[in-house]
Amino acid sequence: MREALRLDGASSTYLLDTSSFGVPRCLYWGPRLGDLDEGLTLALAEPVPQASLDAPPLPSIFPEAGLGFFGQPALRGHRDRRNFATRFLLERALAAAGRIELHLEDPIAELALTITIAMDAETDVLTLTSALENRGKTPFSLDHCAAACFTLNGLIREALVFDGAWSREFSPRRAQLTRDALVRENRRGRTSHDRFPGLIAGERGFGDHHGAVYGFHLGYSGDSRIWAEILPNGACSIGLGESFAPGEIALSPGERYASPEVYAATSSEGLDGLRDRFHRFVRRHITRKRPPRPVHFNTWEAIYFRHEAKALSDLVARAAEVGAERFVLDDGWFRGRNDDSKGLGDWSPDPAKYPEGLGPLIAEVRAAGMKFGLWVEPEMVNPDSDLYRAHPDWAQNLDPLPRPTARNQLVLDLTRAEVTDYLFATLDNLLRDHAIAYLKWDMNRDLAAAGSAGIAASHRQTRAFYALLDRLRTAHPEVEIESCSSGGGRADYGALRRTDRIWTSDSNDALERQRIQRGFSLFFPPEVMGAHIGPALCHVTGRAHRLSFRAATALFGHLGLELDLRALSREDTAELARLIALYKRFRALLHEGSSVTLPVADPGRIAYGVVSADLREALFAIAQIDLPALDGSPLVRLRGLDPRARYRVRLLDLEAPARAIAVPHLARFQGDGVLLRGDALLRAGMNLTIPWPETALLIHAAAENE
Ligand code: GLA
Repeated sequence: MREALRLDGASSTYLLDTSSFGVPRCLYWGPRLGDLDEGLTLALAEPVPQASLDAPPLPSIFPEAGLGFFGQPALRGHRDRRNFATRFLLERALAAAGRIELHLEDPIAELALTITIAMDAETDVLTLTSALENRGKTPFSLDHCAAACFTLNGLIREALVFDGAWSREFSPRRAQLTRDALVRENRRGRTSHDRFPGLIAGERGFGDHHGAVYGFHLGYSGDSRIWAEILPNGACSIGLGESFAPGEIALSPGERYASPEVYAATSSEGLDGLRDRFHRFVRRHITRKRPPRPVHFNTWEAIYFRHEAKALSDLVARAAEVGAERFVLDDGWFRGRNDDSKGLGDWSPDPAKYPEGLGPLIAEVRAAGMKFGLWVEPEMVNPDSDLYRAHPDWAQNLDPLPRPTARNQLVLDLTRAEVTDYLFATLDNLLRDHAIAYLKWDMNRDLAAAGSAGIAASHRQTRAFYALLDRLRTAHPEVEIESCSSGGGRADYGALRRTDRIWTSDSNDALERQRIQRGFSLFFPPEVMGAHIGPALCHVTGRAHRLSFRAATALFGHLGLELDLRALSREDTAELARLIALYKRFRALLHEGSSVTLPVADPGRIAYGVVSADLREALFAIAQIDLPALDGSPLVRLRGLDPRARYRVRLLDLEAPARAIAVPHLARFQGDGVLLRGDALLRAGMNLTIPWPETALLIHAAAENE
C-alpha cells in the first residue's frame, strides 16, 4: 500500500497515512496487522457529514485549529495576534528502524514542526515527541503544544484516570468519555499527587484481563495537560502535553520548543497487558541496569529530626542484624535542622549532632556491611537559613506579590545559573567528600508563584531540575538517586529516567499501600517502587497492622524498613529478619519477573503476583483488605503460569498463617504443599480460606521436573 508508513511491534501495528499534503493521520493503531492492501485507505476514508464543511479536516496526529477542526487542538499560539490558525505541510517523512520522523512546515505562519514516533519492537511501547520552531522574524507566543495526539476508534468510550492526594497517591477513577472533553490539567509545578500525567482509554467495561485498552503517559515532572474527548465523527481524540501559564513561552526567532516524551501502548487483553508492556519498556529503556537492589533501612519514622549518636549507632547495628543492606539517613542531619522550619539550603552536617561530620557514621554503616544513603532536598530553601539570608533573591518570586511558603519553605529559582551552579557544587562536594552510594532527592512543595523575573517559569524550572540531575549523574554515575516528593508527588518517566527509584507514598499503612501500589504498578515495575515496612502503628492513618501484613505488602516493591528497630521485641526482630531473608530469596523473581493481577470475585480482596520469565516460578499475594461480601471462600485462579507444567503450590509461612474467619483449608498448602498442573491452577483455581481483613496470604508456585 502506498503512502502509509507503519510501525510494527511483536503484537501491534501503528499505521500512518501520509497521502495528504498536511499533517498525517493515524489510520490504525491496534493488534498487529499482516500485509496491507491498497484498498485500506479507501476503506477507512471518512464520509462527509451533513451541515459540515465541504472538506472537513480529518483528525490528524497534530490537530490544528482555525481551519475547521473543532475539537481540542494540538497547538495554541499566535504571532502578535496573527497566525492563530496554522496549516502545516508535510515536507519530509523519514521512516527507518522502528521510527518515523515527520518534518512539517507552515510557510505562512513561519513555523516548523517535527514529530517523532518510535515503536520499541520488543514491548510495542510507542515513544512520541513534537518540536516547534519559530522560523519568523518576530516572537511566537506559544500557549500550548501537544507532545502527541491520538485518534482512537469509535469503540473507545471509557477512561481510567488517577486522582490522589498526599498519602493517597494513584487513586483510580473511571470516567465515561463523551463529547464533553475530559481535561486533566496539573499546574502544581511538580508531577503532583492528584493528577498523575497518564490516562487509560478503552472499550466500555474494560478490566484487568479483558477489553481493548490504550495507555498513555506524559513522562514529565512539571505542569501537564491531558485531554480525551469524543469527536463528532465518533472517534476518541486524546492529547498530552505540557501546560503553560499565560506568557510563559514566547519563541524568539529561530528558537525551538521540544516537548517531553509521551509513552503509549495498547493491549487487547485489558490492563494487565498494558502493565506488562510498560514494565518491560521501563526495564529496557528508562532505568539503568543495576545489581540486586539492597534492602533499605531509612531513619525517618525511627527518629525523625532527633539525630543522636547513640540512637544512630543502635539503629545501624540493628539494621545490619535484621538484614538491611543500605542505611539511608533521612531529614535532620544538616545545619540547624531540628524541625521543618529551618535549615534547607545549608547542606553541611549540623555540628551539634555531627561534631566530626558525617564521616564517623558512614564508617560505622560501612563497617556493619551496609552502604550509606543521604536525604537531600536541593530545590528548596527555608527563609530561616544562611543561604536565604545571603541570597533572598535566589528564591522563586513574583515580587512584590507575597512569597507563599509551604512546609515553611520556598523554592529556589533554578532558572538562574548561579543557583544551579551552587547546588551542583554543594552536592558534588558532598559526594566527593563522603562514601555516599545513594541520594534520596526530595521535593516537598508545589510551585506557587512559579515565576522568575516576573514571567511564569514552571517549564524552565522543570527543565533546569532535569539539567541539574543530569549533570550530577554524569559526574557521579555510580550514585543511585530516589525521586521523592512528599511521597509519590514526582512519579513519572521523566524523573525515573534520571533516577533509580521512586518513593511511592509517605503512607506506610499496608492497607493504603495495597491500593496505592496497585495503581502505581500499572506504569512502574516493582523494583522501582519504594515500599517500606513501617511501625505497627502508622503515623499517617493511626491504623495498626501486624508485621506479616506490612511485610507481605512491602515485599512486592523495593523493600525497605522505616521503623524504630530499637522498640521491637526479640520475637519481632527475629520475625523481621526472617521476612527480610524471605524477600532476598525471591528478590530476583520479584524484580525481573512479569507482574500479573489475579481475578477476584470479592471486592474485599486485592490479588496479584509475579511470574519468572521462564514460567518456572511465581509468587502471589492475596490481600484481604476488607471483610468478604459472601460467606464462602472465593476461588483463587492464578495467572501467568505455564498450563502444561506441574507446580508445587505452597503457602508461605507468615506470622499467623492459620488465623482466618472461615474454616481453615490451609493446612494442605503448608509444608510440602500440593502438586497441581498449570492449566488447573489457571482455569479451575484453588479454594483457599478467607483470611482476616488486613492480612495477606503468600502463595509460592514452583514447577517440578517431570
Ligand atoms: C518528605 C518525604 C518523607 C521524609 C520527609 C522528611 O515528606 O516524603 O519520606 O523524607 O520529607 O522531612
